[in-house]
Amino acid sequence: MKGVVLAGGKGTRLSPLTRITNKHLLPVFDKPMIYYPIQTLVDAGIQEILVVTGGNHAGDFLQLLSNGKEFGLKHLDYTYQEGEGGIADALKLAEHFADGDKLCVILGDNLVEKSIRGAVEDFRKQERGAKILLKEVHDAERFGVAEIAGDRIVGIEEKPAKPKSNYAVTGFYMYDDTVFEKIRTLKPSGRGELEITDVNNAYIQEGTLTFGFLEGWWTDAGTFESLLRASNLVAESRRARA
Ligand code: G1P
Repeated sequence: MKGVVLAGGKGTRLSPLTRITNKHLLPVFDKPMIYYPIQTLVDAGIQEILVVTGGNHAGDFLQLLSNGKEFGLKHLDYTYQEGEGGIADALKLAEHFADGDKLCVILGDNLVEKSIRGAVEDFRKQERGAKILLKEVHDAERFGVAEIAGDRIVGIEEKPAKPKSNYAVTGFYMYDDTVFEKIRTLKPSGRGELEITDVNNAYIQEGTLTFGFLEGWWTDAGTFESLLRASNLVAESRRARA
């Protein structure tokens, strides 16, 4: 399985911090944000990683991450998203890199305390389809939200005003190579983007979406509140381990 970190977008919710840099280069405690999703992939046993970025600061990623040596990687791939077409639009750019393999996709602003290795191993054994990871939250309206019936997810709503559950769809997604056909059928949402939620709903329609739960704390870091929370959670974990 190969890994993809999605690190494009304008980061408008963090303006003016993002006026002069990319959101994923901002500090989370003692490291640039993008270090965390890359380390999560490496800890899950994934060695081939593609970073998708965009905007005016793409060159800074190359300077920061270089060839991936700091993460114990032999090599790191990069590509550039033109425009602001959304998460699923950014993922399109991974088709050549995937070359028929399965993918583990992480949003560059998602941080998790524990390893996702178990879920990645489960998906290696899953014949086809996709797997997503859920987390129970108090502010589900900020996320994609899963509607669960029995042991199945029957639908996902993107940032619903009235969430049908407290289970947020986290930014950790595993896909087979049909993901690219599915992205080609998508239409832009109300916010003018190709939504990852629509990709996941296409797998639900097909009956091939499985799910698991993230262990330990999880946070995004795309708003002032969640960016601060991310730094505090990392700092607390570091202290607990010292
Ligand atoms: C994105 C997804 C959403 C998901 C979230 C996780 O939202 O669209 O479904 O729950 O990431 O962080 P965004 O933060 O890009 O608006």
